[in-house]
Amino acid sequence: MKEKLEQLRAEVLERLEGIKDKKELDELKIKIMGKKGQLTEILRGMGSLPAEERPKVGQLVNQLRQELEERFEKAEAVMEENLKKARFALETVDVTMPGKKKRVGGLHPLNSVLESIIDIFVSMGFDVVDGPEVETDYYNFEALNVPSDHPARDTQDTFYLTEKFLLRTQTSAAQIRTMEKRKPPIRIISPGRVYRADEVDATHSPVFHQVEGLVVDKGITMCDLKGVLEQFAHEIYGPETKVRFRPSFFPFTEPSVEVDVTCGECGGKGCRVCKGAGWIEILGAGMVHPNVLSVCGIDPEIYTGFAFGIGLDRLTTTRHKISDIRLLFENDLRFLEQFSR
Ligand code: DAH
Repeated sequence: MKEKLEQLRAEVLERLEGIKDKKELDELKIKIMGKKGQLTEILRGMGSLPAEERPKVGQLVNQLRQELEERFEKAEAVMEENLKKARFALETVDVTMPGKKKRVGGLHPLNSVLESIIDIFVSMGFDVVDGPEVETDYYNFEALNVPSDHPARDTQDTFYLTEKFLLRTQTSAAQIRTMEKRKPPIRIISPGRVYRADEVDATHSPVFHQVEGLVVDKGITMCDLKGVLEQFAHEIYGPETKVRFRPSFFPFTEPSVEVDVTCGECGGKGCRVCKGAGWIEILGAGMVHPNVLSVCGIDPEIYTGFAFGIGLDRLTTTRHKISDIRLLFENDLRFLEQFSR
């Protein structure tokens, strides 16, 4: 019996040496000390011993049980300690490692110029409205007093999607949508993308941007148009900039004007930026044509208004002295980063 106990002890101690994980340890513990474990079996077997030997053997068994229990406990503690150490090692922060920098993005120059345009008009009491890029022939042309044989409808200029739907060629469509929904007084701007079947070169792109403006109320005159647009030009280009109104033609305004500002590069003397003219055209405008008001259910005998369409791309290239409009659409980070500060 004594030998049997010795053998069991040696066996258990050896196994304990080699155990690496907790599950194995628990299994071994059950196998030895559990209800059906080897040590318990031995205890049970004591019944067959002569009565005088029992107390001695009993004492030995209990000693062994106590010892093994302690060993198991120790093994468990060592294991936990090792686990903890391993976890700490994993979680250690190496403060000498280089940091991960987040690159901060910036506004695209078109958007930052658009933001300043919006700020200027919002401070004058305008709302900003949105319009769809896929438009109907009605909103893009017909309601704007563009007759069906007008050259602007030529397939060379307009991307038609179907006979009825097209990619808007001008943000002016937003004027009609606004006047259908709102009654005067109206003061809105509507920025957005427009499309024309143009060849790409340094000053043309089939996709470009406009900011439409519309004011309708009782007693609005050409004076209001001039005052608002002059103020706008001064805020964008600086107070020393001269502003010029040239007679022009648009089907949806009468009279119509084009607005030029003195070239910021040469101050009006003529240079590469203004192609020698000394002036840069920034927008078209005019007094809203009575037909356009009528089509939207606004009585032109009572109300008048003015409208304008700003070329955002031109404004951006001249303000930032960008020589080629294509740079605005290529998304070359080396170019864009110059404006993100
Ligand atoms: N839609 C015109 C264009 O694309 C620009 C324009 C001119 C808009 C006069 C207007 C306006 O609202 O009154 O060339």
